[in-house]
Amino acid sequence: MTLVIRVGPARQTWWLEHMTTLLPELDVRLWDDPGPLEAVKYAVVWKPPAGGLKQFPNLEVIHSIGAGIDHILEDPELPAGVPIIRATGDDLTQRMREYVALHVLRFHRNLPALEEAMPLREWRQSVNPPAYERKVGIMGLGNLGADCAKALSVLGFDVAGWSRSEKTIDGVTTFHAPEGLDAFLARTEILVCLLPLTEETRGILNTSLFDRLPKGASIINAARGQHLVDDDLLDALARNQIDGATLDVFHTEPLPAKHPFWEHPKVLVTPHVASLIDPDAGGKRIAANLRRFIAGEDVPDMVDLSRGY
Ligand code: NAP
Ligand code: GLV
Repeated sequence: MTLVIRVGPARQTWWLEHMTTLLPELDVRLWDDPGPLEAVKYAVVWKPPAGGLKQFPNLEVIHSIGAGIDHILEDPELPAGVPIIRATGDDLTQRMREYVALHVLRFHRNLPALEEAMPLREWRQSVNPPAYERKVGIMGLGNLGADCAKALSVLGFDVAGWSRSEKTIDGVTTFHAPEGLDAFLARTEILVCLLPLTEETRGILNTSLFDRLPKGASIINAARGQHLVDDDLLDALARNQIDGATLDVFHTEPLPAKHPFWEHPKVLVTPHVASLIDPDAGGKRIAANLRRFIAGEDVPDMVDLSRGY
């Protein structure tokens, strides 16, 4: 029984050796050297090429090397009926919590203005409001969003969250469904996107949404590039409707050198590093999930494909 791994070239040997150690009962191979195709039963993948997974006629399960599964679902020839497991884990939530706290605090304490003042040798003192007067809104209250909302609330922020279904989270004001979006946006000064990419959420960060935020709001997109309409953000920044943006994810990655985000004074680009899977911890979690799947046990990280995320 073969397990194939598809991951970026920089870390594929590491993954191959790690997964071979963790799952010695399987023949673990890289995507480009899968051996007999009919022996492949398990695939552990990040961004498999379109039509790539259908070459394995006996594939039983696909494990995403990532919390999102959009990079798998976008394959128009994805074999039907094959279950998908996604990545979760303390290391992923911890890293995302750090990233979101870092960038919310950066906007809250007006760090971009201080960074701008430093080369000018300007002593730009200002008193910022305390965190309990700063309204932060998290779009998506799943594994990552709910954890970030709780952490920001502990830091003292006035936190709200928006999800598809109704949620109760201590210290967090919650909104849900399309009907809850306007009220959520109206009270959000720093917006964090942690939604999955689905047909409902594609392009959700657009002019209409920006215009429903208070003037001068900031946004942080750590979810997917396709959530954002790039030109709408550039326009909202030019109008000062949005005052700053931290972007970790992009339509094309790496972000092309000519993209205006690179040079925009109000945009901070980070190279999809908000919460990269740790091959050690992530590999152990993937191996444990596959073992449970093979034993016919419940796999908590199994995706409910009827929801699409
Ligand atoms: P998750 O557990 O599946 O949570 C998704 C949340 O979004 C849930 O609260 C869900 O609502 C909500 N949601 C889904 N569709 C919605 C809609 N149409 N309207 C309103 N809310 C909606 O996902 P996660 O593990 O937190 O991860 C979120 C995303 O983060 C991933 O899909 C991935 O794109 C991104 N990510 C990025 C990085 C990075 O390094 N930049 C790392 C990891 C993940 P319900 O609670 O009602 O289901
Ligand atoms: C990374 O973007 C992930 O989905 O885990």
